[in-house]
Amino acid sequence: PKPTKSKIVKLTTLRDQRVRVSGWVHRRRDQQEIMFIVLRDGTGYLQAVLTGQATKTYDAITLQLEASVELTGTLKAVPEGQKAPGGHELVVDYWRVLGAAPGADEAFTNKLNEKSDPSILADLRHLVLRGESASNVLRLRSALLSAFRASYAEHDLLEVTPPCLVQTQVEGGATLFKFDYYGQPAFLTQSSQLYLETCLPSLGDVFCVQESFRAENSHTRRHLSEYTHLEGELAFITFDDLMTHIETIICETVDKLLADPSSAALIKSLNPNFVAPARPFKRMSYLDAIEWLNEHGIQHEAEDADGNTIKDAEGKSVMVPHAIGDDIAEAAERQMTDIIGTPIFLYGFPAELKAFYMKKMPRKEGETGPVCTESCDLLMPGVGEIVGGSMRIADMEELLAAYKREGIDPAPYYWFTDQRKYGTCQHGGYGLGVERFLAWLANRYTVRECSLYPRWPGRATP
Ligand code: 4AD
Ligand code: MG
Repeated sequence: PKPTKSKIVKLTTLRDQRVRVSGWVHRRRDQQEIMFIVLRDGTGYLQAVLTGQATKTYDAITLQLEASVELTGTLKAVPEGQKAPGGHELVVDYWRVLGAAPGADEAFTNKLNEKSDPSILADLRHLVLRGESASNVLRLRSALLSAFRASYAEHDLLEVTPPCLVQTQVEGGATLFKFDYYGQPAFLTQSSQLYLETCLPSLGDVFCVQESFRAENSHTRRHLSEYTHLEGELAFITFDDLMTHIETIICETVDKLLADPSSAALIKSLNPNFVAPARPFKRMSYLDAIEWLNEHGIQHEAEDADGNTIKDAEGKSVMVPHAIGDDIAEAAERQMTDIIGTPIFLYGFPAELKAFYMKKMPRKEGETGPVCTESCDLLMPGVGEIVGGSMRIADMEELLAAYKREGIDPAPYYWFTDQRKYGTCQHGGYGLGVERFLAWLANRYTVRECSLYPRWPGRATP
């Protein structure tokens, strides 16, 4: 009978039948008269065995690692106790090479191995992706985005696709990629938030999955120059509703991933110790966090008036305790989440540390100290900040004053300001860094492993 052409993942129903599968030679092992191949087609792995006549035609030059091949044969269950992906192997009676892979041994075995220099891994990212863990991270990323979309649908948020080419900043002028747009200055978007806000009166609650760009000269484990930004915006909510919503979306998305056997298996293989976080998430105000850091002796690098770190005689950074008004930097944040060990909402950051659009917290009688905002960052163990969100200024006059305080020319923001003119409402939203979320979920050392082709300062290849 004519063999059935199949993807590897679909083979389970074709036991004892003649099948034809195309893929790449992932591994090869030769034993005198027998050759074992693990074939990879992106949907899974298949063990194939070539014996007798099939090995007579065996051509070591062409049937080599990473060659693309078509294998035809009978799919047989492997005996108990023997391990093979899917519990079966293909007994091959006919094969042909579709695309040879000259030099694959050199590239895949000699250049790419556990000891490879990070810059070689970065240059050869297109080959690294063929590996099991790199491709599993991308599989989990795909499942994650689908699960987020399903969670949003259940909560009636509609997906929109805002533009990447913009003429307004959201998170401060210092991190903008500027370029010439038909003779006018323009930027690559830092956040789609302002556009999402304009959708509320039209579409109700909305979300987007869009690339954001940050010209930050940060060579850290969690900074990219381009990252995938999942942003949501909701109308007629309180600050408390906002934090509960973020927690709900994250927990329901994780639950969906764990309930699905294939994504659960990906999480298990990448992050065997993963457990879904307990709800509700811990909430800690900015002021309490400063106190907590000082109680735990966690200090930060001292800076001079220009923001340069101060060094001692030996060239080491001078460390100082945290004071109210200080930014909580990455290192302190990381130590905090590592000690506490659970997700934490840090909320109520001073207005001067945060973006212009954030709503101020109502002040209590006789309260002193900095003016704080209805803002929150969600911190995850091992990564730190994965979400930044806030309630937005709903009042027109307050927004105009905020532009002024930040030195922002209101003219290009007319469309954003208009929201406060035509039926303003209490609203808020947030942005989640997809690569950071994935680094947490899949326990990756850096967000660079969580992007298909990561960009960081100096790197835009491949
Ligand atoms: O905290 P951020 O800057 O907040 C905003 O952009 C808001 N306008 C979002 C909103 O309210 N709609 O960024 C949000 C998240 C961060 O918590 C982080 O996870 C991620 O985006 N992020 C980055 N991820 C990788 N590389 C970078 N350089 C990132 N900058 C921010
Ligand atoms: Mg932030």
